[in-house]
Amino acid sequence: MLEIRDLHTGYGETRVIHGLSLKAAPGRMLAILGRNGAGKTTTLKAIMGLLPVLEGDVAFDGASIARTRPYEIARRGVAYVPETRDIFPSLTVKENLALAARTAPPDAAWTMERVIEFFPRLGERLANGGNQLSGGEQQMLAIGRALLMNPRLLILDEPTEGLAPIIVRQIHDKLAALKDEGLTMILVEQNFGFATSLADEVIIVGRGRSVWEGSSAAIRHDVDTQHKWLGV
Ligand SMILES: Nc1ncnc2c1ncn2[C@@H]1O[C@H](COP(=O)(O)OP(=O)(O)OP(=O)(O)O)[C@@H](O)[C@H]1O
Ligand SMILES: [Mg+2]
Repeated sequence: MLEIRDLHTGYGETRVIHGLSLKAAPGRMLAILGRNGAGKTTTLKAIMGLLPVLEGDVAFDGASIARTRPYEIARRGVAYVPETRDIFPSLTVKENLALAARTAPPDAAWTMERVIEFFPRLGERLANGGNQLSGGEQQMLAIGRALLMNPRLLILDEPTEGLAPIIVRQIHDKLAALKDEGLTMILVEQNFGFATSLADEVIIVGRGRSVWEGSSAAIRHDVDTQHKWLGV
């Protein structure tokens, strides 16, 4: 569904990714792992059109999106939950959701009602401001907003960052439920156990490239690779 071939990207003069390739297959979850600063977020930003594809290509459904604007990539069905979550702090939970629901077609699978049913916690917080939410509630809101775009590919950047273990388990179960529905996902994570218990395929980013790829089961058993590239 999404294919990156020989991606080169970075910030101005600073190249961060030098020849990264990966594939996300329909209905599967791909985890992108790697140490701090390896270039995971940078790769996601290039997919979303927020950083330039300097060399190589990014294709969604077989068509290049390397020169496509971010809103158009989103409109085609790629939703992105950034590390920063980017919810509107001065708007209520309901307003944050309503803004995301605006562009949904009338027969959309994900409506505001369904998001609230999926994350009952958000239903209890509808009138609260975005700045009055716990970290876990913010993450649920960020995922809820992404679902309201009715994506075919959902991209998540460190959804468990800074969350208590009990909330991490809740997010785990929600992502597992989305996977059961057949939603294609790309997950960037520092939490090795979380990522490999959910993902089908794993790639490890190091030195600006993919340095390892295989199944979650394979990386769980490959202690040498974990030491070398993840510091687990
Ligand atoms: N806005 C920026 N300008 C210049 N360099 C940047 C910028 N953002 C990130 N970098 C650099 O790019 C490299 C990759 O950063 P990136 O954020 O992609 O790492 P990451 O794998 O997501 O790490 P983490 O696990 O800490 O989120 C790092 O060396 C970082 O310092
Ligand atoms: Mg990052």
